Amino acid sequence: MSSNIITMGGVKSLRDIDITGKKVLIRVDFNVPMDGQFNISDDSRIRAALPTINYCIDHKVCSITLVSHLGQPKGGYDERYTLRHILKRLERLLEKKIEFIDNLETLKEENAHCSIERIFLLENIRFFEGEKKNDPVFCQQLADLCDVYVNDAFGTSHRKDASTYGIADYAPIKVAGFLMMREIEAFSKALENPIRPIALIVGGSKISSKITLLTSVMPKIDKLIIGGAMSNTFLKALGYDMKASLVEDDYVDIAKDVLFEALSKNVKVYLPVDVVSTDSIEHPVDIKITPVQDVLDGFHAVDIGPATLKLFSEAIELSNTIIWNGPMGIYEISQFSKGTFRLASIIADSYAFSIVGGGDTADAVEKAGEKEKFSFISTGGGASLELLEGKILPGFEKLDRK
Ligand code: 3PG
Repeated sequence: MSSNIITMGGVKSLRDIDITGKKVLIRVDFNVPMDGQFNISDDSRIRAALPTINYCIDHKVCSITLVSHLGQPKGGYDERYTLRHILKRLERLLEKKIEFIDNLETLKEENAHCSIERIFLLENIRFFEGEKKNDPVFCQQLADLCDVYVNDAFGTSHRKDASTYGIADYAPIKVAGFLMMREIEAFSKALENPIRPIALIVGGSKISSKITLLTSVMPKIDKLIIGGAMSNTFLKALGYDMKASLVEDDYVDIAKDVLFEALSKNVKVYLPVDVVSTDSIEHPVDIKITPVQDVLDGFHAVDIGPATLKLFSEAIELSNTIIWNGPMGIYEISQFSKGTFRLASIIADSYAFSIVGGGDTADAVEKAGEKEKFSFISTGGGASLELLEGKILPGFEKLDRK
């Protein structure tokens, strides 16, 4: 794993090349959450792209073409996913006029008359057939739009799409943007040169989605703190009857293996000692806090309890590096959110270098009002997980190297 992060950190960034007078195409990740009226509920990803865009403006590039996806449209234009929904917010944040263009022909024509400060926003790249197919002809067409390709879409850098991956085979110069570099630096600090002890906190519903992470990260960490529904599978592996709680029965043996692996690597494992449980997740009438061995028949564990929080907080206070991926319970429902929100505050108040990966966890930290106190919050969900798993992200793979 170490070498993969170091390899990715060795790509050229914008700072390593001369961009003045050039046509620059920046792949950004403007895949932001919106409500039913298309109001953006969290614009962190747009803000995170601003340093790269502003650097290009300051260095008097000939034009900037911004390329992004939004959502997962299937088969062409879909009003729900047009990037027009983000245009105003982007203009406000950049304090610049942006020209919205919905096809490559017009973009090419307009780009031929580029002049300082022309900024184009291309319509959702996933409306184009070649994007998800990583079609070489489409990759070439995208590359033809620029002298310099900048990938700054960290959140999408685990996808082998035309605009995140294939384009780099055709663009004359291809480098990483500042967000990509910041993400790699933060994860590198946590995994390559951590100040020990280092704690990994994992949560979320399924052990199956985190198993590669657990096995690949084990040699690097000192403590493994497990919460969320995935801890039910571990507790079952230890012989507890979790009653109606979500348990992945197929993973009970794998959970045992993880615990043995931790033991053999001298990693201390922390599991819940008490849980918040309920008779119904959708319509809770009865909510109880019980030790893990006393969950009532028909009850579902939905959050960690206060004794667990105390146990986890002691482990956190004695850590110097903390990586957190996955909530401690169903934090979207207020009665079951305390464990996750309090954990966010405990980490925020610690002196550790704290890094959050995963869309849900980042959202929970934001909702807990603790965002500013974390050392780094990744803009990537799947991408940060794959990075932690030790994979080379395709978005870095084909970029020029230093
Ligand atoms: C994300 O939100 O995780 C990224 O924007 C990637 O989106 P995708 O999972 O639709 O590729």
